[in-house]
Amino acid sequence: MPTTQHAPLPLGHKILREVARPVRQLTGQRNKGVKAPTPTANAAVPPAAAPAAQGIMSFHPTDCTVEPEGVALVKELVRQSQQFDGPIIEVGTLLGITATHMALAKAPEQRIIAVDAFCWNPWGLTPDVHAALATQVLQYLISVGEVQLIRGDKNKFYEDYKGPAPAMVFLDAMHDYEETKKDIEWAQRIGAKIISGHDYCDKFPGVMQIVDECGGPRRLSGSVWAL
Ligand SMILES: C[S@@+](CC[C@H](N)C(=O)[O-])C[C@H]1O[C@@H](n2cnc3c(N)ncnc32)[C@H](O)[C@@H]1O
Repeated sequence: MPTTQHAPLPLGHKILREVARPVRQLTGQRNKGVKAPTPTANAAVPPAAAPAAQGIMSFHPTDCTVEPEGVALVKELVRQSQQFDGPIIEVGTLLGITATHMALAKAPEQRIIAVDAFCWNPWGLTPDVHAALATQVLQYLISVGEVQLIRGDKNKFYEDYKGPAPAMVFLDAMHDYEETKKDIEWAQRIGAKIISGHDYCDKFPGVMQIVDECGGPRRLSGSVWAL
């Protein structure tokens, strides 16, 4: 994930306002007739996220997702997956940007299951704000049934999953050796036809190690890998 620094922009204020909106709605302030706080930077950021305001002021859309050459491979893999039955499963969704790219490349009858515990984001958003924002980003695709967004820990999802073998999995949640090993082993156990993921790069040696132990990347573009 790129960590480029950007000068503070007015865009940051808009993002703070939009990010805070679902929290104000969730807490029912409007329904109870309580005037919502003026969306200044301080009022808009929930207390737990306030120290991270500096982080969101440097928000840039390219920080939200996979690099362009990686996206090209993701879309190619999704097109290949059209020949197989079963869903496409993305583990680690963040805001749903890669899920949206996948939706653009998939066959109409394919479904995407996007799993996220909303336990990490680079902007210090609270889990509820993060979940609400991802739900808004994916709202159209969720509404028309193209994407199912599941909020929960990936390992619990693996335990509970009773669906058909996925046509493709895209693994992009935790990037250490042990967790990526669990991801790949689950995907192999349930018979995923295409097993891929993000962050095969020096910054994440654990991902490189387990992917190499599994035979190395059959495909690699940017840091998107496929076994
Ligand atoms: C690098 S981001 C995913 C980016 C996304 N795939 C994209 O390209 O747009 C990692 C995501 O994994 C989620 N995550 C981390 N650990 C998780 C876990 N144990 N279970 C489910 N989601 C997890 C984080 O909340 C975060 O949203």
